[in-house]
Amino acid sequence: MKNSFSHAHNRFLDFYNKKPEVLSSAPGRINIIGEHTDYNLGFVLPACIDRNIQFLAKRRTDDRVSVWAEHFKESEHFFVHDLRVSKEKKWVNYVKGIFWVLEREGYSLGGLDAFIIGDIPIESGLSSSAALEVSVLNALNKLFYLSLSKEKIARLSRKAENDFVGVNCGLMDQFVSVFGKKNMALFLDCGTLIYEHVPLLLEEHGLNIVVYDSRVSRELSASEYNKRSLESGDALKILKISGVKNFKEADNDLLEDNRDKMGDILYRRARHVITENQRVIEAVRVLKERDFHKLGELLFESHLSLRDDYEVSCPELDLLYTVGKKFGGCLGARLTGAGFGGSGIALVEKAQTDAFINKLKRESKNHKFTVPVFHEVKIGEGAYVQ
Ligand code: GLA
Repeated sequence: MKNSFSHAHNRFLDFYNKKPEVLSSAPGRINIIGEHTDYNLGFVLPACIDRNIQFLAKRRTDDRVSVWAEHFKESEHFFVHDLRVSKEKKWVNYVKGIFWVLEREGYSLGGLDAFIIGDIPIESGLSSSAALEVSVLNALNKLFYLSLSKEKIARLSRKAENDFVGVNCGLMDQFVSVFGKKNMALFLDCGTLIYEHVPLLLEEHGLNIVVYDSRVSRELSASEYNKRSLESGDALKILKISGVKNFKEADNDLLEDNRDKMGDILYRRARHVITENQRVIEAVRVLKERDFHKLGELLFESHLSLRDDYEVSCPELDLLYTVGKKFGGCLGARLTGAGFGGSGIALVEKAQTDAFINKLKRESKNHKFTVPVFHEVKIGEGAYVQ
C-alpha cells in the first residue's frame, strides 16, 4: 500500500500535533462481472483493489468535526447536530452522510479531528466514495463503541450515499469494500446477501488486471443510472405477472414470451439483467476451475450486453473491447462499474501487458480520445481498522 498507516499516522501527527486514536482503511473495487445487477437484486462478482482510503481520527470534547482531505488539500468543519449537504466540497458529504445516517439510527456521536488520505484514483469508477464511507463508518464504530456488524456497516454506508449524498447506487461497492479478501473475488447474491469468496489467483496464472481509466467525464452517469434502474424495474413488473419474483428466477424463454408486452427498450434492459446474472454464475464456475480463457470470454460478452442492451457504454470504453478482442494476449475486457465513462478492466497475460497498454494508447490517440490512464492493480484486502 503506497500510503501505509505509518505515513498516514505521521501526517496526522504533523497536522494536529497529537496522535490519532483510530486508523481505518477501506479499499476501492473493480467488478469482475455482474454489472447493473446489484440494484436488481441479482448476482455480482467484484473484488477489492490494492488502493485504499484511510481515515484517521481523534475524538474531541465538543461536537465539532474538523476534516482535512489530503488529496484536495482542503479542510472543512461541521457540527454533528447540524448536517447539511455541501455544494462546494463534495468529498465532505461522504463524511457528513455517515454522521447523518448514524444520528438517524439513534446513535450518539461526538466531534472529531480527522484526516483523509488515500491512493484510489478519484472519479474513475473505482468506488473511492464507497471506500471513504466505509472507512469513516468503521472508525466511528470503533471510537463510539457502536458494535455495528459488518453487514450493517455496508448497508448504512450505502444508505448514506443514497439518502444524504443523493446517489442512487446499489450495495455492491460498499459490500465488497467491507467483505473483500486478498486474492479473492466476492460472489454476492444482492437479494439474500449470501456471499462466497472465490479465489482469483491471477499472479500464479501469469495474468494481470489492467484498469483502463477512460477519463471521460461521468456527468451523465447519475441521471442515466437512475433511468436504467427505473426501466429495469418496469421490465420486472411485466415479468412478475408471469409469476417470477425477481430477475434471477426469469429465464430466456419467459423473456421471449413477454417480448411484445415489454417493447424494445424494456426487453433489452431485461435481457441484459437476465443474461448478466447467468454470466456471473458461469464466471464463478469457470473461476473455480481456473479457466481464465472462459472467464475472459464472459467479460467480452458482458461488455456487448452493456453496450447494446443496457446502453451504458461510450466510444472510449468500446475501444477497450475492440482492441482487447483483437489482441492476442488479452483474454477478456469490459467496462466496470456504472459505465458512461469511468473505467474498464482487461484480463491480460503478464508478458503482454506493456504491449497491450501501448496499443490502447496509440488507438486512443488515433481516435482523438482524451488520454486514458492505466493502473495495474492487485486484488487487495477488505476494510480494516486499528
Ligand atoms: C455503480 C454503483 C453500484 C452498481 C454499479 C453497476 O458502481 O455504485 O452499486 O450498481 O454502478 O453495476
